[in-house]
Amino acid sequence: MLNKPSALRPTGRATPPARQRHGGQLRDGLEFLRGFLRHPARVGSVVPSSRWLEQRLVREARVAEAHTVVELGPGTGGTTAAFLRAMRPEAQLLAIELDAIFDQHLRSTVQDPRFTLELGSAEQLQDLLAASGLPAPDAIVSGIPFSTMAPEAADRIAAAIAEVLRPGGRFVAYQVRAQVAAFVSPRLGQPQKRWEVVNVPPVRVFTWVKPLR
Ligand SMILES: C[S@@+](CC[C@H](N)C(=O)[O-])C[C@H]1O[C@@H](n2cnc3c(N)ncnc32)[C@H](O)[C@@H]1O
Repeated sequence: MLNKPSALRPTGRATPPARQRHGGQLRDGLEFLRGFLRHPARVGSVVPSSRWLEQRLVREARVAEAHTVVELGPGTGGTTAAFLRAMRPEAQLLAIELDAIFDQHLRSTVQDPRFTLELGSAEQLQDLLAASGLPAPDAIVSGIPFSTMAPEAADRIAAAIAEVLRPGGRFVAYQVRAQVAAFVSPRLGQPQKRWEVVNVPPVRVFTWVKPLR
């Protein structure tokens, strides 16, 4: 079967030849490492998420069925590109990234009409979502480290997630530590918990489904 020309493919990144692709991954990896060295607690790992973790997030969040997806902490965009590859042609992805250099990197590497990027904190989720004009998200996926941020900030972010998610929608958090549950479970109930061990470091993947009422 012939591949569609890359410009027409609804993906976060066109699929370039292998040498170019590996060059892109290397560049993303170096950019990510530099981000970790700038803000270790905020970035939380030295390398971007593995392909296995990306695919687990796509499945847990049911990205392929979603109309609106929000990503908190896209980093250098590996997870973002995986979501865009899985998303429907008419779906929308809003990403919120705190790091200005990651934000610039994403703006120059992710070309997709379904993608909106905001430089800011997940604490501004309600305002940024309202400003985007998007409806209540079907899925919110977060890699921001709840364990290293101030508890007040973690609580505000958890409250915003529970507020904006559509009833029946999914919140998926991938984390080294389990603190996220202390902030989210009082609002969204008990999560499903899994491990993704094919990742550096292995991470817990929590999935909450917002009750219908
Ligand atoms: C573990 S990295 C995940 C990066 C990428 N999604 C991946 O999986 O490779 C966490 C990301 O969250 C961002 N971040 C941390 N705190 C944030 C906040 N309060 N709001 C938005 N982004 C934040 C960091 O700058 C970093 O890009």
